[in-house]
Amino acid sequence: MEFSIKTLSPETAKTGCVVVGVHQGGELTAAARRVDQASKGALKKALRDLSGKTGSTLLLHSLPGVAAERVLLVGLGDKSTAEPAYRDAVRAAANALKEVDAKDAALFLVDMKVNGAGDMKVNGAGASRPLSWNVRHAVLGVRDAFYRFDQLKTQKKAQEPKLQEFILPLSPKAELQNALQEAVATADGVALARTLGNLPANICTPAYLADEAKKLAREFKLELEVLERKDMEKLGMGALLSVARASHQPPKLIVLQYKGNSQKKPRAPLRAPLLALVGKGITFDTGGISLKPAGEMDEMKFDMSGAGSVLGTIRALAGMRAPVNVVGVIPACENMPGGHASKPGDVVTTLSGQTVEILNTDAEGRLILCDALSYAERFKPDVVLDIATLTGAIVVALGHVATGLFANDQKLADEVRAAGDDAFDRVWQMPLWEDYQEQLRSNFADMANIGGRPAGSVTAASFLARFTRKLRWAHLDIAGTAWKSGRDKGSTGRPVPLLVRFALRHVGRK
Ligand code: BES
Ligand code: MN
Ligand code: ZN
Repeated sequence: MEFSIKTLSPETAKTGCVVVGVHQGGELTAAARRVDQASKGALKKALRDLSGKTGSTLLLHSLPGVAAERVLLVGLGDKSTAEPAYRDAVRAAANALKEVDAKDAALFLVDMKVNGAGDMKVNGAGASRPLSWNVRHAVLGVRDAFYRFDQLKTQKKAQEPKLQEFILPLSPKAELQNALQEAVATADGVALARTLGNLPANICTPAYLADEAKKLAREFKLELEVLERKDMEKLGMGALLSVARASHQPPKLIVLQYKGNSQKKPRAPLRAPLLALVGKGITFDTGGISLKPAGEMDEMKFDMSGAGSVLGTIRALAGMRAPVNVVGVIPACENMPGGHASKPGDVVTTLSGQTVEILNTDAEGRLILCDALSYAERFKPDVVLDIATLTGAIVVALGHVATGLFANDQKLADEVRAAGDDAFDRVWQMPLWEDYQEQLRSNFADMANIGGRPAGSVTAASFLARFTRKLRWAHLDIAGTAWKSGRDKGSTGRPVPLLVRFALRHVGRK
């Protein structure tokens, strides 16, 4: 699917479909009014069949006086449009267009005034999002709706949608072209993260993730190093190795670097800032000896979603040649039971030298992450973000709407939250006070790997905090947001949009 920005008018555009918005109560947007006038009121006449509720659609054919073959009316809800309404309208339009036999379509929703929320509040109520925001969210919404995962079905039902070109009818300014390029690359990254998440654990193994990193390295000229089990043994990554012990799949520690800011002529001895992304890559989490119950265990193939989001984000940033430096660190392994498995009560020594009593082998994410975070230190990053499907407790706390955010630096937390609002890939901050640390007390080692039932997501983060004392660090618990269950079961690709936006805002890109 191609996207372009072109100056067009809705009544004269020679396209397969012109998409225009209508508010509830029949109030027309400017584009809809022009189509109505050109067609001598045909659009208004059709309105009785459209509720105008956000996301309702009505397809009209061959309107007199209109050059496009079709006009798709999309309900926008209330007169003033908030961010969710804009995003829903775009998705509804894209979903309707999937069924339509048009090669191209022009999305006249894109110039709508969208009221900001979240971080916009500080700029004064009623501030609207810039057009570049509309462009980004239009592209991401359309690509989201057109995403398919059917590579494992022999009968690829419904043929490919016919639509090939999406036109955003705006005047092509550099700022909007940049937003378009950023959004297309971000959508590529989201799609990669979704596909890696959706692939089953018998295909998407630690070695598969390493191969995927190899492909990215080749395509985008990135630096790649993959540490094997013997390398981890030499380094002393006792926690990571303890999780991988019972699996027949060899563990991998994937280190992928994109250097988009080489600072060829450094004025000062200053180094360009480096962002480290550490992603949990458990390709399947059975729980180990602390075995999980059978129900929904298939969903533990998504337990590598943090890893997928790191690969997706690096793909996005490299694809748009963003002026940022990023290192991705991905500990990847399976958590299996078996004769070699770690047992409750086992004590292991981490890369940091601290010892951990493994009271529950199902709290494995923090065990692989603590060694990966210690390893990330050697790159001297300015900021470290880890991304992990870490706890069921964060799902209890925040559901499937917000990602849990924990940070040891409030300025960093605020930056992450603002990036999440901007990307509509939102986070909610949780406490990381020292008071929680005592729940990790152990009689036999420096700490236990679980902290009991109360505040399970906070004690998991508190465990990681013991390995990031020297870092500016934030932790994203994506257990509730990385995938959907039920009928729409599948990976969401979150938080790739947040991470890309964070990296760009961090180097001053609006
Ligand atoms: N991968 C799971 C977290 C998870 C569980 C994500 C359910 C999404 C849905 C993680 O490894 C885990 O098992 N966590 C345990 C920790 C507990 C043993 C302290 C949990 O949340 O139950
Ligand atoms: Mn687990
Ligand atoms: Zn897990």
